[in-house]
Amino acid sequence: MNEVIKCIKERRSIRSYTSEIPSDDVINTLLDAAAWAPSASNTQPWHFTVITDKELLEELDTRSKPPLLENIQSEKYRKMISDPNYKILHGAPCLIMVSSNTAQYFGHHDCGCAVQNICLAAHSIGLGTCIIGFLNHLLLRPEGADLLKRLDLPGGYMPCVGITVGYPDDKEPENVGRSYQKFNFIK
Ligand SMILES: Cc1cc2nc3c(=O)[nH]c(=O)nc-3n(C[C@H](O)[C@H](O)[C@H](O)COP(=O)(O)O)c2cc1C
Repeated sequence: MNEVIKCIKERRSIRSYTSEIPSDDVINTLLDAAAWAPSASNTQPWHFTVITDKELLEELDTRSKPPLLENIQSEKYRKMISDPNYKILHGAPCLIMVSSNTAQYFGHHDCGCAVQNICLAAHSIGLGTCIIGFLNHLLLRPEGADLLKRLDLPGGYMPCVGITVGYPDDKEPENVGRSYQKFNFIK
């Protein structure tokens, strides 16, 4: 199997990290990979906020739970998030918040391409990542306005998803498997 396909297939969401903060060089490697993602008309409508400030990470983690519980219907997720030991950011030492230019029609799609580049690049150099959508219920609502302000985004940008980044600890990641039935051919 070639290295790219192997990397795509081997990457898993990592939900358990060591406390080591990835160096600026390592983070820059990920941001460089993100910058080379495709985007509609090469608009590159993304912005990346790299957060290693422990206090801010903790605040994002704890404050995102109440609005999530208010909005999430799934009993499985409600139970999981209600557990006081459940960490929205999985204890990661770094979060890359990916924000999108809301004026761009394909902004979220383009950010998705950049997000996958970050996750694959990270996996290829021994880092773990997990895409985090659970922050949105806080950051996109009035009760998260002060935190949104602290992200210091350029005008016209709004958070899309977060990505936790760090060195995986030795806990085996969940392998959720895949369905191969989701296509058809028209010949
Ligand atoms: C848009 C998006 C939002 C996600 N949000 C979360 C999240 O908030 N918390 C989490 O633990 N995983 C989150 N995930 C990770 C998925 O649960 C995971 O990718 C999926 O179960 C497949 O597992 P794998 O990444 O290990 O292959 C998210 C993934 C995507 C693409």
